[in-house]
Amino acid sequence: MALETRTRHLLALRGMTGEQLHCLLDKAADLLPVVDGDVAASDSLDGRIIANLFLENSTRTRCSFSVAAQRLGAGTVDLVGSTSSASKGETLLDTACNVAAMGVDAIVLRCSEDGGASMVAAEVGCSVLNAGDGQHEHPTQGLLDALAITQHLGTKDLTGLQVGIVGDIASSRVARSAVFALTTLGAHVTLIGPPSLVPDALASMCDGLEGAGRGHLCVAHDLDSLLGQLDVVMMLRIQFERHGGDSVPDDYRAKWGLTEDRAQQLRDGAVVMHPGPVNRDLELDSVVCDGPRSLVLDQVRGGVAVRMAALLDCLGAG
Ligand code: NCD
Repeated sequence: MALETRTRHLLALRGMTGEQLHCLLDKAADLLPVVDGDVAASDSLDGRIIANLFLENSTRTRCSFSVAAQRLGAGTVDLVGSTSSASKGETLLDTACNVAAMGVDAIVLRCSEDGGASMVAAEVGCSVLNAGDGQHEHPTQGLLDALAITQHLGTKDLTGLQVGIVGDIASSRVARSAVFALTTLGAHVTLIGPPSLVPDALASMCDGLEGAGRGHLCVAHDLDSLLGQLDVVMMLRIQFERHGGDSVPDDYRAKWGLTEDRAQQLRDGAVVMHPGPVNRDLELDSVVCDGPRSLVLDQVRGGVAVRMAALLDCLGAG
């Protein structure tokens, strides 16, 4: 039998089948005890080298990929935008091709170009894992969001689950990857926020995607009228660095912030998520972020397991 020699990447969740998502989520769920320190780490990636190439700022994603790689026995090298030659004007492709030429096994890439991860993957010989490319996708975040929900509910079948994603959706790669993952798993997703941040055209994001059992996607602007219908409320950060805040209405918190009052109107059992970093008391009140409905730190914990699963999948040690 011919050996599979194609380099494997993780570039996007759009177009991924339910089966592919389940496979990664199952693998990640199996790895949670390793993240918790209850089961010894493995050495499946012993001798491999993963380059974390982060040309945009990051706390969670970068640390999480490093922890995941090291839990699997891989070595890591870290390059960030401010200390790399990107700050001297080197192009993304030149930076990535030079790192790849050193013989690393995978590049974990965060960059500001939409589609930058696919562009790099087409040129380098190693695996590329997209850690967020501009306003396009953030696949491991979408996976960890799905993992936090499936772990909380105790089922991988999200058919009929009502998810609201609230906030700065137009700029959000997190929202896009979450929409692709969650609707593929059967959840109905409503994108909620002011028209300046959540234009109606976003409702067509899943056009062209097939799949029996896919959940619906729609856009709404009135959060208050939906609070009692949502099972999951995913709050997003206002990304001031992407639009300078010009599109953020002055009454943003009053209308779209998940305040303590609003959280009290959620259904029993409804949960609150946020990818971080949080603008506390703007999009999400501290008391809600740290409260009993919050899955915020479960998302972070599961993120390491998802990244371990993704590295194993890409590097053929799964
Ligand atoms: C997000 C990102 O960078 O896209 N954060 C993350 O990866 N946890 C979201 C954000 O910056 O608001």
